[in-house]
Amino acid sequence: MSTAKQDKIQQHYDEVADIYDNHYDLPHGRCYHTHLSQHLMQSLPKGARLLDIGCGTGLFVEKYTSEEGSAVGIDLSRRMIERARHRCAASDFTIGTGETIPFSDNTFDAVSSLLVFSYLRDPEAMLSEAYRVLKPGGAIAICTLGKKLLTRGIPALYLLSEKIKVKHVVMKDFGERYYDEDEMFGIFYDAGFSDIRVSWCSFAHIDMIDPLFQFARRVEPFVEKRIPQLAYNICVTARKPEK
Ligand SMILES: C[S@@+](CC[C@H](N)C(=O)[O-])C[C@H]1O[C@@H](n2cnc3c(N)ncnc32)[C@H](O)[C@@H]1O
Repeated sequence: MSTAKQDKIQQHYDEVADIYDNHYDLPHGRCYHTHLSQHLMQSLPKGARLLDIGCGTGLFVEKYTSEEGSAVGIDLSRRMIERARHRCAASDFTIGTGETIPFSDNTFDAVSSLLVFSYLRDPEAMLSEAYRVLKPGGAIAICTLGKKLLTRGIPALYLLSEKIKVKHVVMKDFGERYYDEDEMFGIFYDAGFSDIRVSWCSFAHIDMIDPLFQFARRVEPFVEKRIPQLAYNICVTARKPEK
């Protein structure tokens, strides 16, 4: 992805920061986001020091720190960061890119990233930076739209919605890149991570209308386990080796 695309992402999220939470923090959105967050949190240490890359308005940081632990969020968009600071006053947030993380080596116990990886201009650089700032033995968990049956038409849909000027918090042509299991495994492996696990998550999509959403919620556990080709998000968890 070019620098121009990254500028476009930043500008877009600056523009939608005020309405972002209407999408992800109201009933369908909250249900969808909580489901993804819980899936990732299972693989992250509790009560640890976390870096959330592409933290947006702080939805994941809020969930992660709700009981214990501390978190730092980094995001391209200044306006999204302002919302995050408002939401999570006890956490730290900084403007920046996941590809150049402004923290020292071996700083964090855990790194997370939700709904960001498909935007990355240089995913290898982001993983290399995540590896660098993780302490030995630290965990990483990411989740993003994956390359699957039901996501194939999404780039065309986003392009169309941009052409007809639909104001939507994510539907825009950012040249997103979707990955399958082998591609994800390969880039995490090449970055040096071990214990790499790839899974599929979510069938009830935020933009489904009721009663389809409610039906999809009910069958979601079955779909994720038995027919993962119908799930939308690919999740990867891994560790930085101790030595
Ligand atoms: C769909 S939102 C997800 C926000 C948040 N993770 C959540 O779960 O609500 C994508 C976010 O990623 C940020 N982003 C995109 N590319 C990025 C990059 N290279 N580095 C840091 N943040 C990035 C955007 O500014 C935006 O806030």
